[in-house]
Amino acid sequence: MDFELKEEHKMIRDMVRDFVKNEIAPIANKIDEEETFPEETVKKMGELGLMGMEIPEEYGGAGMDSVSYAIAVEEISRVCPSHGVIMSVNNSLYCYGVYKFGTEEQKKKYLVPPASGETIGAFSLTEPHTGSDASNLKTLAKKVGNEYVINGKKVWVTNGYHAKYVLLFAVTEPEKKHHGITCFIVDTEKEGVIKSQPEKKLGIRAAYSCELTFEDYKATEAERLGNEGEGFKIAMTILDAGRMGIAAQAVGIAQGAFELATKYTLEREAFGKKLYEHQAIQFYLADMRTRIEAARLLTYKAAFLKQKGVKYSEWSSMAKLFASETAMWVTDKAIQIHGSLGYSREHDVQRLFRAAKVTEIYEGTSEIQRIVIARNIIKEMKKLYEEG
Ligand code: CAA
Repeated sequence: MDFELKEEHKMIRDMVRDFVKNEIAPIANKIDEEETFPEETVKKMGELGLMGMEIPEEYGGAGMDSVSYAIAVEEISRVCPSHGVIMSVNNSLYCYGVYKFGTEEQKKKYLVPPASGETIGAFSLTEPHTGSDASNLKTLAKKVGNEYVINGKKVWVTNGYHAKYVLLFAVTEPEKKHHGITCFIVDTEKEGVIKSQPEKKLGIRAAYSCELTFEDYKATEAERLGNEGEGFKIAMTILDAGRMGIAAQAVGIAQGAFELATKYTLEREAFGKKLYEHQAIQFYLADMRTRIEAARLLTYKAAFLKQKGVKYSEWSSMAKLFASETAMWVTDKAIQIHGSLGYSREHDVQRLFRAAKVTEIYEGTSEIQRIVIARNIIKEMKKLYEEG
């Protein structure tokens, strides 16, 4: 067992850190305050190979491993969680899905542009009446001849506003429940897709989420990802990858807030000594660091298992659960350490605090992660019991 990062991982970390320092840090507060999608820096992320990190070069990606991906999402989210989620949705929720389940033709057509950063991809599962209960979909894809006619509404589609391509989950055979769900690659420039204005959000306000309404949108068989009825499994497989990415985002948010808080304790004085000299503050810093390191180890383990090609869904859920709750806890304490300064909208720490909350919600709430983890425990226990 070796906990040391490989040379290539350190190089990725340094490259991304430099990019973040020079290009993203100067605009991070402004784009969040003004709710502006950062088109130029997202383009640059594509040029650096950050939009399709784990996708082989022949399909427009950078051909890196999952640990490199986790490190890059963390480094970006440490300063700007909006850039972090734009990147992670494109990488894990879109590119990974097309790469894993797409045909050769689909990969050439629908993977190369988003993996190289030329366009953006999104993932569309949630509907107005159902989020966590993901198999209870109403969006209908009716087979008419060789085509599917799609009608329905999707909500909270991160990247949806800018995406050219979206992975859409719709019901083809309602009586079959989750076995009646099918996945489609939707081209949002075709007729029948209506995008809403971006949602007004608490945090990650430079990353746009919108509604997508489908009115007689026509998808051909060549635009179906996988077979009919395989959509739910495809969504779950993709979300395993996505949750590892959100865990990395949460680790980055927590790390960023921790660094800001630590720096502040070295500068600020109270009752005749520096903040860090007060034991109450030292205890906060010790707990913050410990939780962040534990969350990072869980995240790297999930990434390591993913790149090894073994089942990692409970590890991804454990990483997301622990890292997102860590991000919430650490950013709260980071504001507390800053006092009223931390409550100012001019300061980065409140932006990280607002961003942390969504990591406990999107790509499966903390409650959903606990369900996934608990079901795996029970499965393992039953197997052990049956084996005697
Ligand atoms: N990989 C592959 N298959 C899986 C799987 C996985 N990780 N998890 C479950 N499945 C399969 C099961 O094996 C089962 O298959 P069979 O019936 O063929 O045996 C099938 O899926 C159904 O499984 P369950 O009975 O466990 O399904 P369920 O209805 O109880 O739901 C759940 C399970 C984990 C709660 C799931 O509904 C879930 O993850 N819900 C949360 C959805 C979610 O994360 N939504 C966020 C969307 S993205 C977003 O946030 C917006 C954005 O843009 C960022």
